[in-house]
Amino acid sequence: MKVVMANDHGAVELAARLKSHLENRGYEVKYLGTATEESVDYPDKAEECVNEYRKGGYDFGVLLCGTGIGISISSNKMNGIRCALPQTRYSAEMTKRHNNANFIAFGGRVEYSEDPVEILDAFIDAEFEGGRHERRIAKMMALEGK
Ligand code: RB5
Repeated sequence: MKVVMANDHGAVELAARLKSHLENRGYEVKYLGTATEESVDYPDKAEECVNEYRKGGYDFGVLLCGTGIGISISSNKMNGIRCALPQTRYSAEMTKRHNNANFIAFGGRVEYSEDPVEILDAFIDAEFEGGRHERRIAKMMALEGK
């Protein structure tokens, strides 16, 4: 079980928390930083993380920035990526069941009403349902480049 993870300076603490939670769950985490408060650009971290994911062998990717918005939008510009930015356990579960998201994003400066660790767990513990959702995902991915 392998996960790739990257963040900008807006989410150093939350990234560390999610990383150790993943490790406690038995995941090997390829952590690409940044682990300091020094400013980095979130599109660069998104690109680095997706390029690592594309090497293969990863179950999913985790991306974080201040809001989670910039880094999720950036990764979704890259072919093959379906990065969700759930704010609740419910949406985290549903994005796996229906969208088969392969990346999950979080905001380090966001005040979540549910614990991000539990949001991540809901994503991990859910299973893609397939069926009619395969067709919709195929249509979604056919939008790439349009
Ligand atoms: C960086 O200051 C901030 O803009 C970034 O972390 C993120 O929130 C962008 O969407």
